[in-house]
Amino acid sequence: MKKIKIVGGKKLSGEITIGGAKNSAVALMPASLLADGPCEIKNVPDISDRDALFEIIRLLDVKVEIEKDVVRIDSTNMNNKLIPEDLSHKLRASYYFIGVLLAKYKYVEVFFPGGCNIGSRPINLHLSGFEALGATITHCEENHKYIIKADELIGTTINLGFASVGATINIMFAATKAKGITIIKNAAKEPEIINIADYLNLMGAKIKGAGTSEIIIEGVKKMHAANISVLPDRIEAGTYVLIGALLGENLRIVDFEAKTNEALLSKLKDMGIKYHIDEKGLIISKTDNFKPINIKTLVYPGFPTDLGQPMTVLLTQANGKSYFEETIWENRMQHIPYLTDMGANIELVDNNHLIITGKTKLKGGRVNATDLRGGGALVVAGLIAEGTTIISDIEHILRGYEKIISKLKKIGAQIEFIEED
Ligand code: EPU
Repeated sequence: MKKIKIVGGKKLSGEITIGGAKNSAVALMPASLLADGPCEIKNVPDISDRDALFEIIRLLDVKVEIEKDVVRIDSTNMNNKLIPEDLSHKLRASYYFIGVLLAKYKYVEVFFPGGCNIGSRPINLHLSGFEALGATITHCEENHKYIIKADELIGTTINLGFASVGATINIMFAATKAKGITIIKNAAKEPEIINIADYLNLMGAKIKGAGTSEIIIEGVKKMHAANISVLPDRIEAGTYVLIGALLGENLRIVDFEAKTNEALLSKLKDMGIKYHIDEKGLIISKTDNFKPINIKTLVYPGFPTDLGQPMTVLLTQANGKSYFEETIWENRMQHIPYLTDMGANIELVDNNHLIITGKTKLKGGRVNATDLRGGGALVVAGLIAEGTTIISDIEHILRGYEKIISKLKKIGAQIEFIEED
């Protein structure tokens, strides 16, 4: 079994470069199937979710090529097929094939998507959006297979009960080729949604308002080939900023974007953690004494849930009590018992609330990555802990943190993959 071994306490300096955003790339790749012709996506992160998407795309007789971080997708000979259960289960983003295939063929057969076990993760908002556009849905309770079909999709106004990232993108996909105008109200405003709408517009779609809570989509008959670059991953960047605040010596986070990370930067300011931003990115050094704070995860532009777990590690090093609340997912505290075992003083009030009292020394230990960002948090903990930390179940980490070992090694961390039973 492949594991990650970290010997903690090393100072980190030099440059670490941020890859393309996972949560944008995993939607841009399925979006390419809407175009009649070869598309090119640059800055695609080297993560295992990418490879899982390639499998699904190839299964649909679509050509996929990769050269470094450039992915070329040509759907000229595409066929609509059932996406098998094992592939749907490999990642959350398999649900994007529903919107895309529905727009293109008016017929989709899929299984319930997989992804991190961070909550119940229903897709009711996606499905009711498709229904509002005119689709009918048959759901087999036994194996969670869905058949979604429509004679035609007709634009309408859809008011999302919650500003869901996935539902906003998926409904946007389905509406690109619907008759007339679709308005998504209470749409998610995450920067990744702008990246995806830009791509669709380059293909000939007519989408306005992405990045605001009202997105207006005028359906078009055809979409053509286009090229796009994935925006930098604000969660990967944020994770390395937190690492820099704990261990940096003029550590430069290249391609850090201040405008998509305002919530993080304002919390760092409140804590008294200093950083410097220039045209290349963000530079940060270890701050010895910083204040505790209160954090509540929220939809964008609030503090991102995906940075919440790594942030809990920083809070173990603040001088005093921090209150942390997770509001998006019901099951994002699975890393906490491991942090406590390592020496952190964290009260798990319930599955959404923590009281973290710092500053505590962390000791290395054997820990388990239970989900992607929880795994990211354990890497941060291992880097600051005294002694050796061994992380197992690292496939969760590799789903979303690009080349994490080589990137951290390059800036001075003692971290490696090991084989161990
Ligand atoms: N929700 C529903 N019904 C739905 C859809 C969502 O009740 O039909 C609820 C969810 O259960 C959750 C909340 O709405 O409580 C937020 O879900 P959202 O749909 O916004 O999340 P998602 O699209 O499934 C994406 C990212 C997540 C990230 C969230 C929130 C992808 C592939 N995943 O998930 O990323 O946490 O948005 O920003 O884009 C990660 O990268 O570690 C990760 C989990």
